[in-house]
Amino acid sequence: MILVTGGAGFIGANFVLDWLANPDADRILNIDKLTYAGNLATLAPLESDSRHIFVHGDIGDQDLVRRLLQEYKPRAIINFAAESHVDRSIYGPAEFIQTNIVGTFNLLECARQYWSTLQDLEKEQFRFHHVSTDEVYGSLSASDRAFRETNPYEPNSPYSASKAASDHLVRAWFHTYGLPVVITNCSNNYGPYHFPEKLIPLVILNALDGKPLPVYGDGQQIRDWLYVGDHCFAIREVLANGRPGETYNIGGWNEKANLEVVNTICKILDELKPRADQKSYAEQITFVKDRPGHDRRYAIDASKIEKELGWRPAETFDTGIRKTVQWYLDNPAWVQGVVTGSYRDWLEKQYFN
Ligand code: NAD
Ligand code: DAU
Repeated sequence: MILVTGGAGFIGANFVLDWLANPDADRILNIDKLTYAGNLATLAPLESDSRHIFVHGDIGDQDLVRRLLQEYKPRAIINFAAESHVDRSIYGPAEFIQTNIVGTFNLLECARQYWSTLQDLEKEQFRFHHVSTDEVYGSLSASDRAFRETNPYEPNSPYSASKAASDHLVRAWFHTYGLPVVITNCSNNYGPYHFPEKLIPLVILNALDGKPLPVYGDGQQIRDWLYVGDHCFAIREVLANGRPGETYNIGGWNEKANLEVVNTICKILDELKPRADQKSYAEQITFVKDRPGHDRRYAIDASKIEKELGWRPAETFDTGIRKTVQWYLDNPAWVQGVVTGSYRDWLEKQYFN
């Protein structure tokens, strides 16, 4: 049994689906609070799979987490649960502090107590895997070297500051208490089941709806894009073979400016689902007010994980983005399901007020 938190979100759910695609895989206990970003429809294919046990709960609920650890005795915890959207953290940071910092602290304490009851090999092999982000390293200039694991932390948004704080707690629980932790810091993910408040799914769905494609500032901010399936594979490798106490950077070797990403999506849609008036979807691109404190460039140096664990992404940006656009075209029912009232409220606040 492994315990996954936040397994109804974008990356967590992709991880759970990929993991259970292997008939020999351990069972999964999945704790998720089902915030606006949690979506059980993504996990619908597992409805009759007894290897997936879903618990609607909060990682900050000490009694619940303690009870579940005692009852299910997982060999590992993978912590995906978080508030993850930078723009939302600017409007309302409180939830980010609560889940990303206090929630992780609670999970660490429960894990430490549980781990201290394990014996011999079980104790040695236990892992607490914390899923984190490249944003903790701050912003790069065009000529800076890509982030290495040894870069200092320089978070700039309430989101990245809360993730940085959680990484520090995880590190401290290793050094002080010996809890066998691993931390992975990953770049921007994209792929199926991505909630359409983030750039790539937002652009695909707005394009198809005939709406503006909002590009912040000059659109020249750079992100390093990684297909979500590659991230999930990397997490499995680190869980299996990563060294306790270590951090591994995970990235796609795919630095792209936002405007280039948006233009690429438009080109693919022009080909796969041309507009009725035969014009390009690029006509819908609209430059809007920049994000406050917007980090200019992220880039990940993922050579440590390649050297130690032999992991490299399988998808290029071209193959991954095409698959992703096709997935959104093929799954209108899932898309309809996520376009809820609360999501519409967010769009109103972010883009029209
Ligand atoms: P997401 O917002 O899509 O999903 C987060 C999930 O966590 C949701 O299902 C939500 O219901 C759940 N959750 C939130 N608060 C909770 C709580 N208190 N208790 C239990 N569950 C809770 O996020 P994501 O994009 O899937 O990201 C997952 C993790 O990966 C996060 O820790 C994020 O910081 C990290 N990360 C994301 C990216 C990315 O590009 N999306 C890149 C690097 C790292
Ligand atoms: O780098 C990893 C991080 O990537 C994760 O830790 C976060 O959880 C995840 O949300 C993501 O953060 P970003 O802020 O980079 O992702 P987002 O999709 O919100 O934005 C990507 C870029 O596109 C960023 O430079 C802001 C810009 N953008 C975003 C939106 C939503 C726009 O230009 N227009 C938009 O409407």
